[in-house]
Amino acid sequence: MKPRVICHTFTSIDGRIKQTIWGLTDPAKYFEEPAAQIKADAWLVGRVTMQEFSSKKKHKFRPASGKDIRKDFVALQTSNTYAVVIDPSGKCEWDGNMVSTEHVIEVLTEKVSNGYLGHLRENNVSYIFGGKKELDLALVLEKLNKLFRISTVRIDGGGHVNGAFLKAGLIDEISVVLAPIADGTIHSLVAFEAEEGYGKRKATHLKLKSLKKIYDDFLWIRYDVVKPQTPFLNAPARKKAAAKKK
Ligand SMILES: NC(=O)c1ccc[n+]([C@@H]2O[C@H](COP(=O)([O-])OP(=O)(O)OC[C@H]3O[C@@H](n4cnc5c(N)ncnc54)[C@H](OP(=O)(O)O)[C@@H]3O)[C@@H](O)[C@H]2O)c1
Repeated sequence: MKPRVICHTFTSIDGRIKQTIWGLTDPAKYFEEPAAQIKADAWLVGRVTMQEFSSKKKHKFRPASGKDIRKDFVALQTSNTYAVVIDPSGKCEWDGNMVSTEHVIEVLTEKVSNGYLGHLRENNVSYIFGGKKELDLALVLEKLNKLFRISTVRIDGGGHVNGAFLKAGLIDEISVVLAPIADGTIHSLVAFEAEEGYGKRKATHLKLKSLKKIYDDFLWIRYDVVKPQTPFLNAPARKKAAAKKK
């Protein structure tokens, strides 16, 4: 089963997400406080965003062995809420297996070394494989549901991970906190970094779900993604559809 996917983002009125020149005294609260009101079993971020929370140390990896080392690993842990990172090459390092109150799940490709897997095992960090060299994000969602019983995921950015899930048609709802700020920095990150230029892809249409004025001049807007996009197919059905296309 595919979990429900809600993408939560904090942007300027021109869709930019880096707060470098915004001059806000407590920028985290505008993202975190509305996010806390969205019920979810997990939050999910890209590798760049997670490196703000993971270890800053460079660890020495001791390669792990054993027949199960390159299989999905569900670590023994006590939390039933999760911090998921899309980290295809295994760049986040860990001193433990929690971020705040959430248990860490690394989403990897098979490119990662046994040394890195040993590092995750040593820290009791869970991991799943989402593809050989590239990630199948639909498969990743299926595994999060099947192995960890995650039924709602909140995607918390940054722009590239948001864009990847948008492009894959896997987002059900978008939650935007709109700051009363016009940023204007050319080439700065925006909420959805899906694709360069205009190709065959069509933009995603949304339906307004709720609109709230918060912190005086900010807006919190929630949209449902208008379906049908490509209907969600499970792994065998995706294989069958791909074979049919050839
Ligand atoms: N305002 C907000 O709402 C908000 C929220 C979160 C973050 N941020 C800010 O956004 C910035 C980071 O955003 P970002 O777009 O640069 O990075 P990001 O989305 O956090 O992470 C991007 C990285 O994640 C991996 N990744 C994501 N999707 C993938 C896919 N489909 N397949 C393979 N790998 C994938 C790749 O890692 P590899 O490079 O290792 O391959 C990619 O480079 C930070 O400045 C952060 O503070 C803002």
